[in-house]
Amino acid sequence: MSKFQVVEHPLIQHKLSILRRKEASTKEFRELVDEIGMLMAYEVSRDLPLEDVEIETPVQKTTVKQIAGKKLAIVPILRAGIGMVDGILKLIPAARVGHIGMYRDEETLKPVEYLVKLPTDIAERQIFLVDPMLATGGSAILAVDSLKKRQATNIKFVCLVAAPEGVKALQEAHPDIEIYAAALDEKLNEHGYIVPGLGDAGDRLFGTK
Ligand code: PRP
Ligand code: URA
Repeated sequence: MSKFQVVEHPLIQHKLSILRRKEASTKEFRELVDEIGMLMAYEVSRDLPLEDVEIETPVQKTTVKQIAGKKLAIVPILRAGIGMVDGILKLIPAARVGHIGMYRDEETLKPVEYLVKLPTDIAERQIFLVDPMLATGGSAILAVDSLKKRQATNIKFVCLVAAPEGVKALQEAHPDIEIYAAALDEKLNEHGYIVPGLGDAGDRLFGTK
């Protein structure tokens, strides 16, 4: 079974509590998703491998650490995943950014894929697949299917709010990927919304209905 981790950092928890409030404006919502995305990236990148490299300081030669191994790609699930990208790029500015476009059919709650645009060497990259919401899990599962179809093997899914139903479905469909969330909520309601959740992340981020 894949690893599921709630990132309990106080800054993340505090900012998420403001984000959930129905009074949060589009501007505040956007800023908070950006900030939480950055803080999540700090945790999610904790186990990136390091290698020794020799450098010269103004004083003498020495051996220091640098990030080794696979290069990174951030892949947001459109639309709402876009809100997390800039925050992650603040910490990992050289990462490539792919896009997977997907929306949930509001009747069936099934995801529909409408765009896939990825770095050509996606198979060799460590991927952070990002979307603020993991509800039924349908969108995340289809996005991972899509990445694996293109030979990607090293995928971490990073969300803000997860429902138990979505975590279970994603773990069952893709036991090899690691899942990170800022919160594990109670359940889904009859419309497939996370309870208590934060509403429709895409609409709140972009000010649409
Ligand atoms: C939301 C959210 C996820 C998806 C989660 O996107 O950003 O992608 O729902 O639900 P699921 O786990 O049940 O698949 P939505 O379909 O509303 O599209 P949007 O980002 O364009 O608003
Ligand atoms: N998508 C959202 O944006 N919010 C939810 O609660 C569920 C799916």
